[in-house]
Amino acid sequence: MSGHTPASFDRIDALVVGAGFAGLYQLYRLRALGLSVKIFEAASGIGGTWHMNRYPGVRTDCEVVIYQYDLETVWKDWTWKDKYPLGEQIQAYFRYVDHKLDLKRDIYFNTRVTAQNGMSLHISGTFRLQVDSSLSKPLIPNIKDLSTFEGRCFHSSHWPQEGLDLTGKHVAVIDTGSSGIQVIENIASQVRHLTVFQRTPNLALPINQSRFDEKEQVKMKETDLYNHIFRRLPQTFAGFLYEFQPIPFTSATTEAQKLLWESQWKAGGFHFWLRNYPDIFSDETVNREAYAFWRSKVRARIRNPALHKQLAPIIPPHPFGIKQPDLEQGYFEVFGRENVSLVDLYWCYRWYGYTWLQRRLYREKWKNGVFTNIGMTTSDFPNLFFVYGPQAPSVLANSTSVIPRQSDWITDCLKFLQDNDYTRIETKRDAEEAWRDLVLEIASKRLWHKCESSWYTGSNLASTNTRPVEMLAFSGGLPLYLEKCAEAADNGCQGFELS
Ligand SMILES: Cc1cc2nc3c(=O)[nH]c(=O)nc-3n(C[C@H](O)[C@H](O)[C@H](O)COP(=O)(O)OP(=O)(O)OC[C@H]3O[C@@H](n4cnc5c(N)ncnc54)[C@H](O)[C@@H]3O)c2cc1C
Ligand SMILES: NC(=O)c1ccc[n+]([C@@H]2O[C@H](COP(=O)([O-])OP(=O)(O)OC[C@H]3O[C@@H](n4cnc5c(N)ncnc54)[C@H](OP(=O)(O)O)[C@@H]3O)[C@@H](O)[C@H]2O)c1
Repeated sequence: MSGHTPASFDRIDALVVGAGFAGLYQLYRLRALGLSVKIFEAASGIGGTWHMNRYPGVRTDCEVVIYQYDLETVWKDWTWKDKYPLGEQIQAYFRYVDHKLDLKRDIYFNTRVTAQNGMSLHISGTFRLQVDSSLSKPLIPNIKDLSTFEGRCFHSSHWPQEGLDLTGKHVAVIDTGSSGIQVIENIASQVRHLTVFQRTPNLALPINQSRFDEKEQVKMKETDLYNHIFRRLPQTFAGFLYEFQPIPFTSATTEAQKLLWESQWKAGGFHFWLRNYPDIFSDETVNREAYAFWRSKVRARIRNPALHKQLAPIIPPHPFGIKQPDLEQGYFEVFGRENVSLVDLYWCYRWYGYTWLQRRLYREKWKNGVFTNIGMTTSDFPNLFFVYGPQAPSVLANSTSVIPRQSDWITDCLKFLQDNDYTRIETKRDAEEAWRDLVLEIASKRLWHKCESSWYTGSNLASTNTRPVEMLAFSGGLPLYLEKCAEAADNGCQGFELS
């Protein structure tokens, strides 16, 4: 461990690494089992992602009704303000969760477990649980001589906790991913000039943000709707409140297609993605139709026609929806502002690599400017149990619909080991290989591989990683994933070596 060294323990039964959404839930569940549990957390506070990401405009991209703990003791006294809350609201939520469940007394902050000492860490009878998500480690792009840049550089996940005054500054943002578009739409009106370096256009969807009415929340609780919602989530493909259409696009009439897409667009959020026809993910011709609809809606919002081909090109950069679309709020309008310019890196990267970007940064001579090098996260190191991660989400679904179910599985598994006097559990090699084969077989029926840079496949790290680019997440839907987990448990931890 590095940083603060925890006092020695007489005895602990389980060590959880990370105090994010998953780690806190795991602590709560294992305590309920009567185990003595501690969390080691590298950061100085709870919340994981939400503790680290303080950049302007940081917020959820799932409606908050599904992005929260399904524990009645937690939700019954908590009221949300927005349908898609900003980071500050989520941080307040975590403080409330800590207070409700009395979590901090078992958390050691500023305590990083490293791969080396993590593997040799010896606490008698301890199960180690790695609950570091797939997206917690910042990825700094390999831009030559970045350290000699004379302006200030920031990464979205290491934004100064006290905030950053960008008023009147010349700012460059390298990234048009999830974090990037949130920063861009939030700082454009504040800075003197904003230059956006875009490698791949973001096929973002309108968020349709609104307040989450307090009276509506009270009513939902009184009528037991919350419990219905939480029970429904694992029944849907992506752990959301809505499902794909029951028929393929090719079986629907032109009128039905048009009306459905218009209504999904109006509803906002992920409706146009996760409530769409299932064949947009498997049939490239159908996908092109969906992309053409997206393009026409977006182009209507881009004031400068010269930017149409950069932000919403005729040929899609990748099929729509095979990389998670992000949610935006005025993102495309930003490029109509006088103080915003777009630099399209797509071809530059292909022809000149990173050097071109570096030269460009110098030519701009932003000696006192700010360069926000943002977005881009990757995973940390392996350990005994992983929740949600390690390299990519273990299953393509809303993370907070998945995390509690995986933590429940781990909790039950530990109980089984305890009851049967086992102290060790390892996956069997053939079980790992069978799982990988299943993941790849399911993925081969969809268009996932048609994306040059995606954290679903690890292609976003292809230039720095030696591992093969292949689908990393289970894309067969949450119900099937949970069925497979239950199967393994029901058959006495089938696929695991116990001793
Ligand atoms: C800005 C942002 C918005 C997001 N919005 C959504 C959303 O709307 N919907 C959705 O489904 N997902 C969203 N995500 C994904 C998000 O990662 C998950 O929703 C969720 O927060 C993951 O929780 P976690 O506990 O698994 O991981 P994290 O929140 O990443 O927590 C992991 C913790 O482990 C700690 N840690 C890691 N390594 C070590 C170590 N070696 N030693 C000690 N501590 C360690 C880290 O410091 C961190 O606190 C978002 C991600 C980001 C970055
Ligand atoms: N609630 C939210 O809205 C929210 C906010 C932040 C994060 N998240 C979650 O976290 C995940 C990861 O988000 P993220 O923003 O960290 O990463 P991301 O969405 O993968 O975005 C990374 C961005 O950086 C660009 N990039 C990477 N290397 C580059 C380089 N060398 N030069 C120029 N550009 C480069 C990428 O371009 P390419 O596309 O060309 O690779 C992409 O635009 C998301 O998918 C989401 O699940 C959610």
